Amino acid sequence: MNIGIIGCGFIGSTIAEAADSMPEIEVVKFTDIDTSRPMAMAQKHKKGISHTMNDMEGFLRDLDLVVECASPVAVKECGVQVLSSGIDLMVLSVAALTDDELWQDMRKAAKSNKANIFIPSGGVVGTDGLGSAVEAQMDHVTLTTTKHPKSFLGVKYVHDQGIDLMNLKEPVVIFEGQAKEAAVLFPKNLNVSTTVSVAGIGTERTKVKLIADPAITVNRHELKFQGRFGECTCVVSNSPSMTNPKTSYLAALSAIATLRKIVDCTWIG
Ligand SMILES: NC(=O)c1ccc[n+]([C@@H]2O[C@H](COP(=O)([O-])OP(=O)(O)OC[C@H]3O[C@@H](n4cnc5c(N)ncnc54)[C@H](O)[C@@H]3O)[C@@H](O)[C@H]2O)c1
Repeated sequence: MNIGIIGCGFIGSTIAEAADSMPEIEVVKFTDIDTSRPMAMAQKHKKGISHTMNDMEGFLRDLDLVVECASPVAVKECGVQVLSSGIDLMVLSVAALTDDELWQDMRKAAKSNKANIFIPSGGVVGTDGLGSAVEAQMDHVTLTTTKHPKSFLGVKYVHDQGIDLMNLKEPVVIFEGQAKEAAVLFPKNLNVSTTVSVAGIGTERTKVKLIADPAITVNRHELKFQGRFGECTCVVSNSPSMTNPKTSYLAALSAIATLRKIVDCTWIG
């Protein structure tokens, strides 16, 4: 199997390392808007080949799977092209999928070209159960995310509420509403709420609560859902990754786990 990695940052490097040890993977092509990064990755990894972003057709040639771990812009620019070429696509920059038109176009391209879209669970836990639960009637899905106030600095909505983020003495709810509204107001905090929305009941019915807590040292996500199946609460306290503190280590591990399911042809959960 040949894979292509778009984005040679923290997640890209972590997947590349794992791919090196998977005998089913023969070639790993790297590309990035920062041209120095794919070259460095290709030198470091024995199966690696560096490629420019300017020649997408050449990059896609002979690939079976593309792993996007760059940015929402990369999903917008390359998503439909990858799937229309009949190549499977793993998306990490899930925030891009709040664009309904793009999401529908990608699904259409995947279906008509017999390609798969893989969305790892990323920084959240419980999307497997949520995916099962939505096969019957659902009452509600709520995601409560608690982060350090500095994660919300520069957000206009928070500023307009008169919340002084850097002088909080206790946890403060800074937003409560639809995932769809959160997408507009908090564009930098979107990957997890979008993963939950696409796995479950969509951005209009999924409720999001955001809490700024000056005492917290992790990113905490609590996913609660209830329906015909019963009820479920899943909580994760994520440690940041080593090189990009904005990214939870678990997100990179979920990408490796997805890749392993693909190469092992075995899907549990
Ligand atoms: N699904 C989740 O739960 C989850 C969790 C954490 C991060 N993410 C997302 O995964 C992506 C990668 O995260 P990371 O921590 O590896 O980031 P990073 O900043 O460490 O690396 C991103 C890399 O992509 C490159 N890049 C940026 N825009 C590009 C573009 N348009 N085309 C090609 N290359 C581009 C950058 O130069 C950089 O090398 C981000 O979009 C991030 O938001 C998702």
